[in-house]
Amino acid sequence: MVDQAERLREIVKRNKTTNSSRVIAITSGKGGVGKTNLAVNLSLALIKLGSRVLLVDADLGLANVDVMLGLVPRYNLGQVITGQCNINEIITVGPLGLRIIASGSADYKMANLSDRSIDFCLKQLNDIEKDTDIMIVDTGAGISRNVLKFVLAAGEAIVVTTPEPTAITDAYGVIKVIANSNPKTPIWLVVNMVKDEDEGQQVVERLQAVCNKFLGIELINIGFIPFDNQVSKAVKEQQPFLIGKPRSVAAQQVTQVAKNLMNRSANNIGTQTFFQRLFGGNFN
Ligand SMILES: Nc1ncnc2c1ncn2[C@@H]1O[C@H](COP(=O)(O)OP(=O)(O)OP(=O)(O)O)[C@@H](O)[C@H]1O
Ligand SMILES: [Mg+2]
Repeated sequence: MVDQAERLREIVKRNKTTNSSRVIAITSGKGGVGKTNLAVNLSLALIKLGSRVLLVDADLGLANVDVMLGLVPRYNLGQVITGQCNINEIITVGPLGLRIIASGSADYKMANLSDRSIDFCLKQLNDIEKDTDIMIVDTGAGISRNVLKFVLAAGEAIVVTTPEPTAITDAYGVIKVIANSNPKTPIWLVVNMVKDEDEGQQVVERLQAVCNKFLGIELINIGFIPFDNQVSKAVKEQQPFLIGKPRSVAAQQVTQVAKNLMNRSANNIGTQTFFQRLFGGNFN
């Protein structure tokens, strides 16, 4: 009997597409460094700059993106593939028309779905991707197997750290795992909660030096975000600071991060879509 994973890989292989979008996973070593805040506000900044954005909440811990936006997605991606819900039911629409999908675990099981139903489901997911320029994937902290699956399927990673020594050490740990799994993955660095630019610059230089020396990879800084009280205020109000506090320093800096990201070319990782890579486990 062909096992489930093998069967899913076969179906994914058959499901040809040509149009894939740029997918960027946001990750970190240490928890609580600001990934979800960045994921939500960066997505909105990218929309303001004219991109069609899909935000994937891949944090399996406590619900995050939805709490930040005051939205409640009912189903996740895993439930589509098991046939518990329809594809249209997993998209929640947030401010500025931002589309949000909760992923559930990356260890997808197909239950009793027929090949035809999975085919259909993948086609619909690929259609969603066709209508998308950039996908932002918010992951949990620490590089678990699950997080790594999302990062490798995405093809690009933003690693977030704060200037705290523990956060920097853990950021290096995550970068090392990503680089060892696929050295071609572009890794962008964002230093959050900095006191000033000098502090951010010191973190960048420290991390760049070790990445270059021990991993032989180039770590590219795409911005600093200052510690800003408006961020936690916005979280409490369940309204992203990019919308509620557009003149805050945090909003301005996240917009700069979005622009820096747009100025960098996408990682061309082939013709498969993100969903195909995720379900098919074909990461090379
Ligand atoms: N630039 C900032 N200035 C001030 N506070 C911030 C900033 N960025 C994030 N925070 C605060 O830090 C806390 C953690 O933020 P967030 O939930 O985005 O982190 P996370 O990395 O997603 O956490 P987790 O690892 O639990 O998923 C929040 O309370 C948020 O208000
Ligand atoms: Mg989070």
